[in-house]
Formats: sequence, structure tokens, C-alpha cells
Amino acid sequence: MSEKPKEKNSLALEIQKTAAQGSCQSQAQDGKSQSRLNGCVPLSHQVAGHKYGIDKMGILQHPDGTVLKQLQPPPRGLRELQFYTQVFGEDCSDPQLLALRPHLPRFYGTWVSPDTPNDLYLKLEDITRRFSRPCIMDIKVGRRSYDPLASPSKREQQIRKYPLMEEIGFLLLGMRVYHPSRDCYICHDQFFGRSLVKDTLARGLARFFHDGEKLRKQTVCLCIRKVRNILQWFESQKQLHFYASSLLFVYDGASGVHMATEHNNNNNKHHQHQQPQDLSRTDSPAKSSCDEEGWAEGLPESLQNGVQTGSPLNLEQSNGNGETVMEEEGKERDLSECFVDEGDEGDMEVRMIDFAHIFPSQTPDEGYMHGLRNLLSVLEKILQD
Ligand SMILES: Nc1ncnc2c1ncn2[C@@H]1O[C@H](COP(=O)(O)OP(=O)(O)OP(=O)(O)O)[C@@H](O)[C@H]1O
Ligand SMILES: [Mg+2]
Repeated sequence: MSEKPKEKNSLALEIQKTAAQGSCQSQAQDGKSQSRLNGCVPLSHQVAGHKYGIDKMGILQHPDGTVLKQLQPPPRGLRELQFYTQVFGEDCSDPQLLALRPHLPRFYGTWVSPDTPNDLYLKLEDITRRFSRPCIMDIKVGRRSYDPLASPSKREQQIRKYPLMEEIGFLLLGMRVYHPSRDCYICHDQFFGRSLVKDTLARGLARFFHDGEKLRKQTVCLCIRKVRNILQWFESQKQLHFYASSLLFVYDGASGVHMATEHNNNNNKHHQHQQPQDLSRTDSPAKSSCDEEGWAEGLPESLQNGVQTGSPLNLEQSNGNGETVMEEEGKERDLSECFVDEGDEGDMEVRMIDFAHIFPSQTPDEGYMHGLRNLLSVLEKILQD
């Protein structure tokens, strides 16, 4: 049995109770991975941000399928906690905040490991959970990645990271994309995102929607619709400004693909993608470049030198093209018997995450909306090209 999380306050308890009633998915307790932090393990499919093993803190996965985000040192962590508490509080009656809920991961209160009682975690819905082969992209949105209280050196540091942020209004922080024909994930890190300039943005982002053989146009359309919904929310509110916050995009790389295996009969909710647990972590420090002509179009060929069968402990391979290629192991490999269908590409999620720099305001969040509008233009360009 997994250790029960200790709740910090009654609000958290209430939220957890509601969650338990609403979702039987999160009840699955598997006693296998109990070795670390009471059965919690580093989130295997994290595409950006602080990572366990590399940074001092990171995102964990609880055995019940939720994700645990460790509270950052004050004031950042408290700001994020306060925000989730406000939006998901039982007493929340603000129509704008209620309308925001569907755009966020559900918040299940706080969690503390009995082993490290001083570390507090936010317990959140895993947005990737219902997908069998989750393709994930993290995009930071807004013209400024530093908040109004940032020191001059912090501002400078953030601007230096991506001087185009002010103009473009968003930055790709990382992605991983499933290629069914090779049964592997292609990953791009923050350096790839920072290498994108105005002329290469569409081709860079198109990689997220390219399954190695074709562009998933339906998925792009769905994505546009979801981003528009978020933009509508921003157009309706003046009370909050979001700095250095992200949109997390997730779709199922196995959708639109026929599986000639038991996989077809299994419900995706069984979380099969976790089986190679921490092997799908990508933290390649390799600097990526995408200045070359035709690099996006050449993607399938460019993989040919990169995909190798790795040992179970190290399935990540750099293919010398700024990508990290990861193979899945064991029984999941028989996905190579798949064939691509013209059919339904399935649903997707676009959710807002990362609220360490959220500030009250009395004016619309023009910086965030600028980013969303530019992102929409880029997505539309991907469809046209
Ligand atoms: N609710 C979630 N469901 C699935 N994956 C998530 C969720 N929240 C975060 N992640 C994964 O973790 C990564 C980092 O998340 P986040 O941006 O919240 O943390 P961070 O950047 O380390 O935090 P901070 O900026 O506050 O230091 C995301 O790119 C995503 O891959
Ligand atoms: Mg982040």
C-alpha cells in the first residue's frame, strides 16, 4: 500500500475527496515502485523545467497517477500554491476563475512525503495520463519571462536567454513526439527552442505535429481551437497577469494508428507509456540548430542514423541532428507492426501550467495575449505550408 499523503489543510482534504469521487482512474495503487519517496518516481515524460537527478527538485509521479510538483522556494512556490488554492477552492465563486478551471490541471491539494516532511508538493492531474503514447510540448507564453518584481540582473538573464521573446511572445521549452513507424520518441530541448527565429518557428513547431511520415493536420486544427479558447478567456479578464507561465500540449501519438496487438484492446487509460518508467526522460544538453534549409522536411531520413537499440538503462541516443531519440522497450516494441491510417487523429489537451510568477492586475494581460495570437498565426501557417 502506498503511504497516504498528509494534507496540509482542510481545503486540500476537501479537494482530494472530490477528486476521489470524480475519478476512479486515480485510484489505481500499484505497490511496485515503492523504492523512492514513498513510491513516487521522477516524472518520466517531463519535457522541460526542473528535473529530479539534475536539479535539486523536480516533478514526481505519484503511484495514483497524479503528478507532484515540489514547491519552489518563496515567494514562487507560495504564489503557485495560492493560485491553485484560489481557483480550485470550494468557496470560489468568481466566474472568471471558474471559467479558468478547465484550462488548468486539476488541483488535488498538497502532498508531503513522510520521509521528507519539510518538502511540500502540489498534487496535480497528470495531463498526459489518458494517452497511450503521449506527445508533449511545453511552450512558455508572454512577452516577458520575468515578473514585475524581478531584479535587473534577473531581467537581463531572462532577456538574454531568448531576446526574441518580446517580439514573438512565446518560446518552445521542449517537446517529445512519438514516431509510430520506428516506435520511438523524438525529443527537442530548450536549446532547440531558443535556436528558432521568426522564419524557422513554423517549421520548428511543425515537428511536434509530424509523426515521422506525415503532418497530423487534424491535430494542428484541434490545437488551434483549444488555443483560441484560452485566448477567449484572456480577452474576458483583467485580474491576473501571467509571467513565465507555459502551455502544455499533449496528444496521443498512437491515435490514427492501427495496432496489430493487444494494445488495441487495452484502454489507453492503463498508462502504458509509463512502462519504460524513467527511460523517456530527456535532458539532452546538446545544442540544437535548425538553420539548415529543409531540416524539417528531411526528418524521416535524418532519423536513419540516429535510431539505435539501446540498453534498457540508456535508451536515449543523440542522432547528431539536435534530436534525442528514445526507443521503447519490451512488449511495447511490437508497435512496429503498426500501420498509419488516414482516420481519426483523436483528441488533445492544451493546458496552462507553471504559475510561480502570477500577479494581480487591473488591466488585460496584453503580453500573454500577444504570445497566444502569434502562436495561433504560426499554427495556421503550419497548416498552410
Ligand atoms: N500537470 C502536469 N501534467 C503532466 N506533465 C506536467 C504537469 N505539470 C508539469 N508537467 C511536466 O513538467 C514540466 C515542468 O513543469 P513546470 O513548468 O510546472 O515546472 P518548472 O518549470 O520546473 O517549475 P518552475 O518554473 O516553477 O520552476 C512540464 O514541461 C511538463 O513536461
Ligand atoms: Mg516551467
